[in-house]
Parts: sequence; C-alpha cells; structure tokens
Amino acid sequence: MPIPAHSLGFVGMKVLVVGSGAREHALVRAIALDPMVDAVIAAPGNPGIAQIALCEPIGGGGITDGAAVVEVARRHTVDLVVIGPEAPLVEGVADDLRAAGFATFGPSARAAQLEGSKAFAKRIMAEAGVPTSFSHVCTTRAEVEDALDAFGAPYVVKDDGLAAGKGVVVTDDRDAALAHADACLARPDGRLVVEEYLDGPEVSLFCISDGTTVVPLAPAQDFKRLSDGDAGPNTGGMGAYSPLDWAPPGLVDDVVQRIAQPTIDTMHRLGMPFVGVLYVGLALTSRGMRVVEFNVRFGDPETQVVLDRLVTALAEFLQAAATGQLDLAGPLRWRPEPAVTVVLAAPGYPQAPESGGVLSGVEEHGLADEAGDAEAGDGGAAGGAEGAGSAYVLHAGTAIGDDGLLRASGGRVLSIVGSGPDLAAARAAAYDLIERIDLPGGHYRTDIAERAQRGEITAPVVGA
Ligand code: GLY
Repeated sequence: MPIPAHSLGFVGMKVLVVGSGAREHALVRAIALDPMVDAVIAAPGNPGIAQIALCEPIGGGGITDGAAVVEVARRHTVDLVVIGPEAPLVEGVADDLRAAGFATFGPSARAAQLEGSKAFAKRIMAEAGVPTSFSHVCTTRAEVEDALDAFGAPYVVKDDGLAAGKGVVVTDDRDAALAHADACLARPDGRLVVEEYLDGPEVSLFCISDGTTVVPLAPAQDFKRLSDGDAGPNTGGMGAYSPLDWAPPGLVDDVVQRIAQPTIDTMHRLGMPFVGVLYVGLALTSRGMRVVEFNVRFGDPETQVVLDRLVTALAEFLQAAATGQLDLAGPLRWRPEPAVTVVLAAPGYPQAPESGGVLSGVEEHGLADEAGDAEAGDGGAAGGAEGAGSAYVLHAGTAIGDDGLLRASGGRVLSIVGSGPDLAAARAAAYDLIERIDLPGGHYRTDIAERAQRGEITAPVVGA
C-alpha cells in the first residue's frame, strides 16, 4: 500500500497524465494507487491504461498542442497535470497549462532546452561545474571532421535537437559517424555535438525538483542497444532494472551534490527554474562520474522499475514538486526487492517497426499483482513457487483493432515488469511472463540484468 507523502493536504485529487507509452502506464498505475487520488485521466493513454484510468483523446495537434491539452485539463477540472514525453515539454505545453492555472509537473519550454538542445545542456553543465564529456558543437562538415579526429574512435555524434531516439550514434566507423553528422547538418538549423566517448557502466538517476529543492529517486540501469550483449543499434531502451547493488555507496548523494543541485541552482539563477524530473544519464568512468545526457522527463523503460519499487504515494509527491513544496514532502520509502523490465518490440524495430500484429496472452496478465504477492497458477500475476517473483504487463505501442483484437501499434509494444526477492527471481518472473505472450515477429533481449545478477558489473570508485 503506498504511503502518503505526509499530509500535504492534497485530498481527493484528480490527475491528468499526458502520453501513451509504458512510462505513462507506470505513472498512471502508481498515481492510481495513491490514496489521495480520486480520479486519473490519461490523454491519450493506451488500451492497458484504459483498464485503470479514463483515457481521453486530445484534439487539435495532439500532445504537443498546448491549447488542446489545456482543454482536456479544464474539462476534467484536474488538480495536477503530469507530462510524460519530452516533445510537449519542449513545445511549451507546461507553460500553457501553468498560464491556465493548472499545477503542472514538467519544465517550461525554456528549462526543457536541457533536453531539447544538446549544446544548451553542455553550456549549463559548464556554468554549473558539472562533470561531463569534452565536446564540440559543430555546424559544418569541416568542424565535424576535425572533432572526430580530435577525439578518435569510438565516435559519438549527437543531433542537437530532439530526434525521437534516433539522434545519437556511437560507432567505431568514421564513415558511419560522418553519415549521421551529414543527416543532422541537413536539417533546418542543422547543428550537432561531437563528444568524447565515455567508458564505464551507465546509471540513470531521476532527480525531482520544484525549482529549488532536489529529491532523487532510486537509480536504475537501462539497456539501450537492441540485442543481447549490447549489440545492434541504439533504441529507446529494451529493458531496465533497479536497484543497482554494484553502485558505489554514496553515488546518489554525490550525483545530487555535484550534478543535480548545481544544475537546478544554475537554472534558477538564469531565470529558468526547473520544475519536474531532471533525468541524469551518467557514466561511471575510470576518471570519475560524467554526465552522458540530461533529459527533462522520466526515462522509459527505467520508470517502470523505479516506480514499481516506490512505496511513497506518487501523486502527492509530484503535486508537492509542482507547487514548490518539495521540502515538506518527507523522505521517500522504497521496497528493497529488485524490479526488472523487459521490452517486447515489434518486428522491424527500431528501423522500421511493423504495426498491426495481433498480441495474445496479454489480457490475463494486467496489473494483477498490486500487492506485490507472488501467485501461482493461471489468471494471476506470473509467478509460481513460494518465494518466487511476480510480474505484470504495461502497455506501450498497443491499440484495439476494428475486430476488437489487441494489436501492436508502435515500435516498443509492451514492457513486462517482474519483481522478486532477488534479481534472479525478478528476472525469472519477467521472462516467464514475456514467454507466454505472443506477437508474430516480436522480439526482446534475453539478457536484461543478467550481468548484474551474476555480479559481473564493477564500478570504478567515484571521485575526481
Ligand atoms: N531510457 C532512455 C530514455 O528514456 O531516454
């Protein structure tokens, strides 16, 4: 049962969640469990979310159309709006909602440049003294070639702007790096960042802020490459797990003190207070921790495992952030049991995902394990023997076809979340369930959290 964030007085809340992925399904699930919440509306949501919340289409230009999102918030007289994806944030939907009087969890368009422009993020990191990779901002091919040669392989080329998960190429092939750079430069106002490659294990840490105070969530690790063994192209993320037993003690405090708080303070000082979640993507390198990227929203699929473990009631906590009261929210509480999520992707993902495939085996494995208990047998959460884990399905790219069947409608289709007394049990529960779901041509990684389970990940001592 979620624990309220200490009676901040947000009773009978109506919450609107904007977005339609598994991240939003996880957010809606956690918000709906908050005893202070009376109603959850998702716009536009998805068929899985529709089982636990009211899903509303957004008119006009969809989720990036501020007036259309405000219209949904007004129609339902919501007390809080939580914006899931980056695109509406960069387009200023949070500004429109605040101007219309809605408490909103998500940064302004100006603050969202931390994700919307890699060059802007690098400037803020420099201003805040945040450790990150060396980089060059390039607007011509000659600058790109010089930068690639200066850093050497592996080459890291990042589109300056949002690119729907396709903006970053990391490769040993100079021609492939140049080809990606050419594509970035060909866009209107084409600009890109060439960076030094960062070795070492990566960590995602979500830092919630009300513009002043910073509260970190639990760290997670994400698997960005398509295939087992970190082979294949980058994706939006094929799986994640939390907690990270191998992480150095003090890592979270260190990230807050050296990265998140200085960034939030700098944004405040520059007149762009950041309200929402600062997603700090880190590499723990042999030279100390370095920021790989900032994002301005919850990560997907890391959110699925982080929120699975959160005991504190989420809606009240996010409301405190949205209304400048995070200092009153009290410490967060976590379940110690690990959670693992495995993403089921559509055939052709990420290059050319095929929509329309029929999903079977999903219906009976919805949010069956709200209490987190392992249940044996059909009809409950996946699991089995006493002491084993349990699992459930979060929807991402799914839709109900005209024939009433559940079909794939996007690249990442489902996120299966398993939890258990240890990583082995959590992994077993997630994989046992995903194996019982069928999507013709669908694919998933089989090694999510495997190296962590085997104790094979070591992090250099954080410092420097
Ligand atoms: N998991 C990576 C992202 O959300 O950007």
